[in-house]
Amino acid sequence: PSKEYLFNHKGFYFVTQGATPENIDALETFEIRDSDIFIATFPKSGTVWMQNILNLILHEGHRNGTEDVENMDRIPWLEYNFRNMDYAALPSPRVFATHLPYYLTPRDLRNKRARVIYVTRNPKDVVVSYYHFTKIMSSLEEVSDFSLFLERFLAGKVMGSSWMDHVTGWYSHAQDFNILFLTYEEMKKDLRSAVLKICNFLGKQLSEEEVESVVRQAMFENMRKDPRANYEKMPGHREEDGKCLFLRKGTVGDWKNLMTVAQSERVDEVLKKKMESLPIKFIWD
Ligand code: PPS
Repeated sequence: PSKEYLFNHKGFYFVTQGATPENIDALETFEIRDSDIFIATFPKSGTVWMQNILNLILHEGHRNGTEDVENMDRIPWLEYNFRNMDYAALPSPRVFATHLPYYLTPRDLRNKRARVIYVTRNPKDVVVSYYHFTKIMSSLEEVSDFSLFLERFLAGKVMGSSWMDHVTGWYSHAQDFNILFLTYEEMKKDLRSAVLKICNFLGKQLSEEEVESVVRQAMFENMRKDPRANYEKMPGHREEDGKCLFLRKGTVGDWKNLMTVAQSERVDEVLKKKMESLPIKFIWD
């Protein structure tokens, strides 16, 4: 209990490992290029999936397997610079992943510069995915009891803070950004359409075969086998046998396998009412 896993900065919880208040504050004036692309998410909503899709869309060598560059090396985490990269020296188009709330993002991003892709996922699947994730990441506090984790999640006492605030913040400030909203569920249902939407948003023309190849390689089972994409070398994995646990299950509705009826109702009670004002429709059952 002596270890502090999280710290709060400007109303938002960060993981102690990898982020500092100074680095977060410095992001305010982070120099943006118009060609930059940001993947913004609440944790466990499909970030790594989007990382791979963008690499497949943007880099022919990634698509045809001639480049052996890991996703996390090509698309760093904005606020957690694990690999000590010089972001200013990265070639264009740069892509960053971030869990930041809209109000802590670089100022120029909030002035409609560059592009943002924001991915949301049914919060019940998010919290279940998150709970499993705490067991494999040494930077997160392991919570043995799901009920306890659920309460922390609903109270916003996890990295990423309140799911509701994160999603509402990004959606209600959409006009400040050049932003594309996608849901995990729509990507699951029709990945090809999602890929085409992304290409359109990025102004990237791919041939029919290239689109097919992106879709195939971004499918869960294929991504899971791909060492460039499956995060098997992620620093801080608790598991020692080298097994890829980051891509755990990749399904819609896995919450039903873990949540009790009472827990599910508890989520409904806290989130569902507030969500009615949001311009997104969730698959609740
Ligand atoms: S993190 O830690 O915030 O970056 O996690 P994040 O990448 O946002 O979310 C992890 C979940 O996304 C699932 N995932 C996928 N689902 C379907 N298809 C593909 N290709 C895919 N890639 C990653 C991953 O399995 C985690 O969800 P769960 O439910 O735990 O399996």
